[in-house]
Amino acid sequence: MTESTDAISALTVEHPSPGKKYYPPFQPTADLEKEAKEYVSMYPEGKELSAVLPIIHMIQGKFGYICPESMSWIAQQCKCTEIHVAGIVSFYPGIRTRCPGKWHIRVCHTIACALSGGEELIGYICEKLGIDPKELSGDEPMGISPDGLWSIEPVECLANCGFGPNLMVNDTLYSQMDKEKVDKLLAEYAEKA
Ligand code: FES
Repeated sequence: MTESTDAISALTVEHPSPGKKYYPPFQPTADLEKEAKEYVSMYPEGKELSAVLPIIHMIQGKFGYICPESMSWIAQQCKCTEIHVAGIVSFYPGIRTRCPGKWHIRVCHTIACALSGGEELIGYICEKLGIDPKELSGDEPMGISPDGLWSIEPVECLANCGFGPNLMVNDTLYSQMDKEKVDKLLAEYAEKA
């Protein structure tokens, strides 16, 4: 088996995650199918494969990640093979095959943010949330807190380089962060949980 087929085989495994309690399990309902059909109808006949990416985003938005079952379902909706879907899932770093925490923290570790303290903040956040920093390496770098409330992922540029270090909690961007601001931010989100 080649390295790439190994990587794709790994996507067909359901990964454990304490974050699952914060997301509904994937259910292929009629409503979901209707939503997928709307995406597919945006493309000419024979080009259903083009709808894979928007449907992946839709599924990840609802269920937190792309599980093996949802990958097969997406392939059916888009009249393509599971290997096509798996190839797209494995290509984009923003697509997850492991359920994140309720609050997913993405910390920029590209050069401008790294030099202004981003790398240090990653270690600090891991320590605060009881996340093993070793989880942040490998094919899908993401650490999840034991209670499933938090996850952290180092990411490339968040397109706000002049105001680093930058991080995002779910879809909200926070700039010019330091340890004190991180403490405040985590306390605010912990209260919302
Ligand atoms: S380098 Fe961090 S936002 Fe661009």
